[in-house]
Amino acid sequence: MRDFINEVTVLSQTILHGHAYNGQALDPLGRFLVQTTLRHYFWLDSIVQTILDKPLQKKHQDLKLLLILGISATEFLNQPIYTSVNAAVETTKRLKKPWAKGLVNASLRTFQRTRQAVINEIHAEVALTNHPLWILDRIQADWPDQKAAIIAANNDPAPMILRVNAGKQTRAAYQILLAAKDLMATPCDLSPNGLILDQAVAVGDLPGFGEGWVSVQDSGAQLAAQLLQPKPFERVLDACSAPGSKSCHLLELAPTLDLVSVDIDADRLTRVSENFTRLGATGDLRCLDLAKPQPELGTFDRILLDTPCSASGVIRRHPDIKLLRRPEDLATLIETQRQLLTQCWSLLRPGGSLLYVTCSIFSDENEDNLVWFLANHHDVETLALPAVGVPRSIGVQLLPTKGVHDGFYYAHVRKMSPGL
Ligand SMILES: C[S@@+](CC[C@H](N)C(=O)[O-])C[C@H]1O[C@@H](n2cnc3c(N)ncnc32)[C@H](O)[C@@H]1O
Repeated sequence: MRDFINEVTVLSQTILHGHAYNGQALDPLGRFLVQTTLRHYFWLDSIVQTILDKPLQKKHQDLKLLLILGISATEFLNQPIYTSVNAAVETTKRLKKPWAKGLVNASLRTFQRTRQAVINEIHAEVALTNHPLWILDRIQADWPDQKAAIIAANNDPAPMILRVNAGKQTRAAYQILLAAKDLMATPCDLSPNGLILDQAVAVGDLPGFGEGWVSVQDSGAQLAAQLLQPKPFERVLDACSAPGSKSCHLLELAPTLDLVSVDIDADRLTRVSENFTRLGATGDLRCLDLAKPQPELGTFDRILLDTPCSASGVIRRHPDIKLLRRPEDLATLIETQRQLLTQCWSLLRPGGSLLYVTCSIFSDENEDNLVWFLANHHDVETLALPAVGVPRSIGVQLLPTKGVHDGFYYAHVRKMSPGL
């Protein structure tokens, strides 16, 4: 009989050890169960606290995770409830805690008997919205009118969105190739290369994936290369490039670019290299810290600065962010974002442009950084952006939107020539 030992192990990596979710060791059902559990974690945790007579000791947090997974399985898996309960009970042996069999069995069955009453007793906003208080407070402060829609979008699994390689196929032609495999897709409004799949599939099932005909990328992220608008043969810096989605998109749109793709993380940079190989692209990859001066890079006509950030705009794709990020991370992130802006600016030629991007919806990582930057530099001109998302004092904000795109912030600035 299938048990939940692999799911407990993977979930504990995030909840108990603070690591990003990694579902590589799981089968499709396990991945669905753990991701769904992360998405609904605060609600499930609140249920487990209610049904346990007394909290479990610290050394038995694995059992608490098992109960959370067990409730999640009974609520969200498309299988008989007794199958999920039996799987959870069976897992106690694999955890080498067979004595807990009765506890797990009784707790899950109690929940089934008293389900509605237990759920009716959940009143805390954290549990009802499945967001930690500090993120709720920030959304309330920055987006009071959009708060409910943002939370709903964050809790809704993201669709799988494709970027058709414009150098190899038209979007319409690729849509026909998909339909021939019974894969239905709808063109994205935001991106001329984007297709939203009706159902997620393994990338190996996508026609021509191995040959680079198509990549997986949210439609909000596909805006970056379009907004930067590089011209043939220009020298372009992708300053924070790994895993390389935006570098690849830039080369698909303008294959003659002299593109330098930098990242501070050597392991992540190998993923840029793998993506280039799949697309048949070549690029100049450098492992560098761009928060520090790197004058040997020379100057660039355009710079894409897709900074590290809270990732508060992509919670629907990465629900573990709600459990891993801490409010105190923000000050460090903002400091890095400002250093990256400053150092990248010094690599931009006069007349060149820089696109600042985050997948955050928090104003202090976004327009506040640009306001700070403009106050400290006198050679910056802000460029107009197309009418997408919500206009900010500088730049535009895409908010995560159910069934459509993730949350991104974009600001485009030009370096004025001396004397202008
Ligand atoms: C949002 S991700 C970039 C995603 C990428 N642009 C894409 O579309 O695939 C941010 C990246 O910034 C890199 N990074 C963080 N600090 C950096 C620094 N000081 N210099 C260069 N890269 C940095 C991280 O390693 C991470 O890969």
